Amino acid sequence: MTTARATVLLGVNIDHAATLRQARYRETPHTHGGFVEPDPVFVALLAEQAGADSITAHLREDRRHMRDDDLRRLRESIQTRLNLEMACHDAIARFALALRPDSVCLVPENRSEVTTEGGLDVVADFDRVSDIVARMSAAGIATSLFIDPNPEQVAAAAAARAQLVELHTGAFANAFYDNLRREAELLRLRRAAEQAANLDLAVNAGHGINYVNIRDVLTIPHLNELNIGHAILSRALLNGIGEAVSAMKARLRGE
Ligand code: PXP
Repeated sequence: MTTARATVLLGVNIDHAATLRQARYRETPHTHGGFVEPDPVFVALLAEQAGADSITAHLREDRRHMRDDDLRRLRESIQTRLNLEMACHDAIARFALALRPDSVCLVPENRSEVTTEGGLDVVADFDRVSDIVARMSAAGIATSLFIDPNPEQVAAAAAARAQLVELHTGAFANAFYDNLRREAELLRLRRAAEQAANLDLAVNAGHGINYVNIRDVLTIPHLNELNIGHAILSRALLNGIGEAVSAMKARLRGE
């Protein structure tokens, strides 16, 4: 008898909706209620209607895409969970404590990158990371650490008392069309997921996951939730956000 695996949850990262808005409105002070498009909060609400299990937004130090007010409006309006991506900076940590998202995901932040690139170095940044985890835990906010799938980082995430890890699937996604490298990256992800689960960390994954490579991603054990942005927002340009989210949910159900 085979046991059915629990359906993996879908977190939709809506940062690129704000990237598109800022491409036009960055230099123009704007108010919500005026004609400013696209509104990332509206995108989040449509994603939820189509089955998203949570919404992720990254408040960057330079406010390149999401702005403080977007996060506040998300917190007030979405019905699912709000996951705030953030760097280990004190000012953003204070913002998070006031906002009260359901979870935060700590990521490295580099001003020149287009999107988050490598994973967080929890080993090198252990004290800063542990401090933020402790402050979030005291406020009832779960902390996820976005890490590369390597054993030292997983062990450090558990030692820092994080509740979740988000395994960085970027190297796997980049290697997808090279059979040997793809299998090697998948093996790293599977081993990191086993190790994390053994250490009582919930296992999320994200970065570079799309409608094609998701089948392989789903072979990683213990997955709780996948956080996906670019592929869903790109498909939404052609098909609408509702179809893009429902199609990804169908992939998660193995359809
Ligand atoms: N998870 C994290 C921590 C991210 O920073 C991002 C965006 O860079 C994603 C997931 C989503 O990645 P993508 O847009 O490639 O789906």
